[in-house]
Amino acid sequence: MERLLHGIDALLLGKSDEARASFESLVHDTEDPLAQRLLSLVKLLGRRDRLQATYLATLRHEIGNPLSVAQATLEGIVDGVMDPQRERLRGVLASVQAASALLNDMALKPQAVEELLPIRLETFNICALMNDQAQSVSGAARAKGIELIYRQCGVAQRGECMYFHGDARRVGQILQNVLLNAVRYTPAGGTIEFTCDNPEDDLVVTITDTGPGIPDTDLPHVFEQGYRGERAHPAQGSGLGLAVVADLLAKLGGSARVASGEGKGTTFIISLPAARLERTPGGVS
Ligand SMILES: Nc1ncnc2c1ncn2[C@@H]1O[C@H](COP(=O)(O)OP(=O)(O)OP(=O)(O)O)[C@@H](O)[C@H]1O
Ligand SMILES: [Mg+2]
Repeated sequence: MERLLHGIDALLLGKSDEARASFESLVHDTEDPLAQRLLSLVKLLGRRDRLQATYLATLRHEIGNPLSVAQATLEGIVDGVMDPQRERLRGVLASVQAASALLNDMALKPQAVEELLPIRLETFNICALMNDQAQSVSGAARAKGIELIYRQCGVAQRGECMYFHGDARRVGQILQNVLLNAVRYTPAGGTIEFTCDNPEDDLVVTITDTGPGIPDTDLPHVFEQGYRGERAHPAQGSGLGLAVVADLLAKLGGSARVASGEGKGTTFIISLPAARLERTPGGVS
């Protein structure tokens, strides 16, 4: 009885490890059914707490990305080092819209890790999305003295917009995480190339940077949640970006490959199997 009360008191005080240890020892010694149920309850609450913590950290990270790129561009305009061109402001608007849509995700109450960042299928203009991403991130690249070169695919160059079936917001998050890593890890004076191609019905996006590269020992782990490369530590970060990329790609049926080596720069190749619906002439709208 005393151990049972001790466990319940610990639970009420939020000391879940202590409560768990009390109930575990009781179950072990007495197989008390009440202690068994309380142990299940402590485990359930622990899983909920971990899910909540992951959810908040992920949303914070994903809302921070578009806000940071919008801030970099607006600072450049206010400081007079960037012109307030319409295209540039369009990139800022797209970032603010992305952040605000992610804020709406906070209203969701996920019951499992798979329910974080749910997919909503829609038809969207992939050329406009790529353009917005290039515009959004170019301010942050420029502020760091990095050149961002965006090459549209041949179809877009011919003025035929591509419409894809997928989730525009989530595809935007995938691209932004990889692009922002390139900006973060590439030193001033470097270059980032952002290109898009669509062989058959796939969308293939390649993001190459001239940064320090990823050592062989880090390469197999970069998509793991919380993993940060040894050399990444001086730069701010939590090791969440590429885990979000892997999660969203799995949900969208896509994949990512990375080719890199110490001192050789880094290339991410992202493939998305997007059912091509139509091409419409008239360029990006
Ligand atoms: N373009 C790149 N150049 C060099 N290293 C990279 C690059 N992209 C990713 N990495 C390595 O992969 C690791 C994981 O990247 P990830 O985006 O998941 O986390 P992060 O950038 O460290 O932090 P966060 O994205 O949570 O702010 C990084 O810590 C870094 O070691
Ligand atoms: Mg990152």
